[in-house]
Amino acid sequence: MNNITSQTPSVIAIDGPAASGKSTIGLRLAEALGYIFFDTGVMYRAITFLALERDIDIHDEAAVTTLAEETQIDVAPASKPDGRACDVLVGGRDITWETRTRKVDENVSIVAAYAGVRKALSRQQRRIGQRGRIVMVGRDIGTVVLPDADLKIYLDATAEERARRRYDEIVARGGSPDYDAILKRVVERDHIDSTRDVAPLKAAEDAVVLDSDKLTADEVFEQILALVK
Ligand code: CDP
Repeated sequence: MNNITSQTPSVIAIDGPAASGKSTIGLRLAEALGYIFFDTGVMYRAITFLALERDIDIHDEAAVTTLAEETQIDVAPASKPDGRACDVLVGGRDITWETRTRKVDENVSIVAAYAGVRKALSRQQRRIGQRGRIVMVGRDIGTVVLPDADLKIYLDATAEERARRRYDEIVARGGSPDYDAILKRVVERDHIDSTRDVAPLKAAEDAVVLDSDKLTADEVFEQILALVK
């Protein structure tokens, strides 16, 4: 898309539950607009991975918060064509795939519920987001991180459909996942994310809610492009 005008939204927030397709659609939209793509979930995943690796008790809020405050996470454009949306780097170390393991999936929502962790990571996200020409994806971008975003989208789908998509993704990467286990994790993560005290998952009042259950990825993308133009 090369007809970007002063009317084109500069800061675009896409929020929604686990595996709702935010990252795929967000990356595609950013590429079409020539914008930066920023998946904020990778920051929560990076802290979770590091805590597990360093044997920090995930339930020790103070210790996990200190880790989040002291860790510089860099998110860079994908350096390898191996299915990643971006590189996740800590101190120059590439931890992109380490943040996608089942263990991280099982623990990330616990980490993301800590107020101090959210404060440390939201601050970094806001600084990046405010520069504009960005598609930022997460759970609380339109509500908390960038409440003044020019366009807010809330991408939804049933848990079963989202679990099926995550299942297909893992199969495409050569894995042999268990659908029921994926569904269980999706439901658990949604529950923790939407009932936490700080920045719970919900649509901003001024968000456009898109239910993607009966839509293909192309159809979702077309609907979002129509909102952007
Ligand atoms: O890609 P997927 O939907 O599985 O999850 P993600 O976007 O990578 O986010 C992983 C977890 O990080 C979520 O389940 C939330 O607990 C947390 N998160 C958050 O709390 N706030 C954000 N802005 C982004 C992610």
